Amino acid sequence: MEILHWSINLELKKEAAEHYRTRFAVNLKDKEPLEIIRQVTFDGVAPNIKIEDIESFFSFVERKFLKGKIRGVGLEVGSGPGTLSSVLAKRDSVEKMYAVEVCRPIVELLMPKVAGYVLGSRESKVIGAIGSFDNIELPDESIDFIFDFFSLHHSDNLEKTLKECNRVLKKGGFIFCFDKARPDYFTRQDLDELLDSEYDDEFKKQIGRPVNQKFTRRMNDEKEYRLKDWLYAFRDSGFPRAEYFYLAKTISKNLIFRAIKIFLSDLPISVQLYFNKFIPSPRFNHKFILASRNRVFVKEVNPFPKEISLLVAYK
Ligand SMILES: C[S@@+](CC[C@H](N)C(=O)[O-])C[C@H]1O[C@@H](n2cnc3c(N)ncnc32)[C@H](O)[C@@H]1O
Repeated sequence: MEILHWSINLELKKEAAEHYRTRFAVNLKDKEPLEIIRQVTFDGVAPNIKIEDIESFFSFVERKFLKGKIRGVGLEVGSGPGTLSSVLAKRDSVEKMYAVEVCRPIVELLMPKVAGYVLGSRESKVIGAIGSFDNIELPDESIDFIFDFFSLHHSDNLEKTLKECNRVLKKGGFIFCFDKARPDYFTRQDLDELLDSEYDDEFKKQIGRPVNQKFTRRMNDEKEYRLKDWLYAFRDSGFPRAEYFYLAKTISKNLIFRAIKIFLSDLPISVQLYFNKFIPSPRFNHKFILASRNRVFVKEVNPFPKEISLLVAYK
């Protein structure tokens, strides 16, 4: 598998080297590829997820939400070990996938194993790039589609990152993000509260941090953006049209609610969107929630660790 080396500013390089994911990657290097996928891409919280689940999810999103086809040359930003890039590269319609990730050992040690596992002899369809999504060393208008899986919200400056994505995207191309957009009514204080919340002991142990030491989401380079922050960033970075859907699971402890959600999930999206207005939003006792606009129940999200904000923007 080819690996490219793009320039990364010193501060980001240092941040990535000190990040727990660097140590994590080194510790996982001898594990089975499926174990790497479950641990790194799905944070160890979707222990049964399979490659077929990711394939079904992509097919559903392409069929129901994208105005263009997933084809040609793709780019995944913040790709981790390239799990999703490899799944997309399995498609005959996808010529090749660039997978850019700032954490060097993830690319060098894990990505070749994951690409080999998912793609077999076609593993060269994934090209790893150790680099930053703020400095994509690809020519202008050379990419047909871009996507992200819970990575772009790590950007220090979404507008700057999306401008760089816009630059490399061909006219008529699109970017789709599986990520998190917080509700627009959240104040700066709400977002700070999310960033200053501490990880639990189990997570600290999993990433090798002492349980008696404070470790907050902010200290883990998390950022928080509301839906309106995403939409302004798309608009101001050259994407005239952006859409948002909240992809919700069909699971529920309540049998009746579960049956209703499963029934709704089989309806066309526009019909679902109409009826879903009458389904009350769930009540949460925490603030780790997504903007609920355009909520759609999607069975294909059930195997994933979390519900998903889908943001799609067209150039
Ligand atoms: C929460 S993980 C997302 C999971 C990842 N998509 C996967 O499949 O494993 C966020 C990823 O974005 C990467 N990242 C953060 N900032 C980045 C940047 N400026 N450029 C490229 N990758 C970055 C992190 O190193 C991390 O692997």
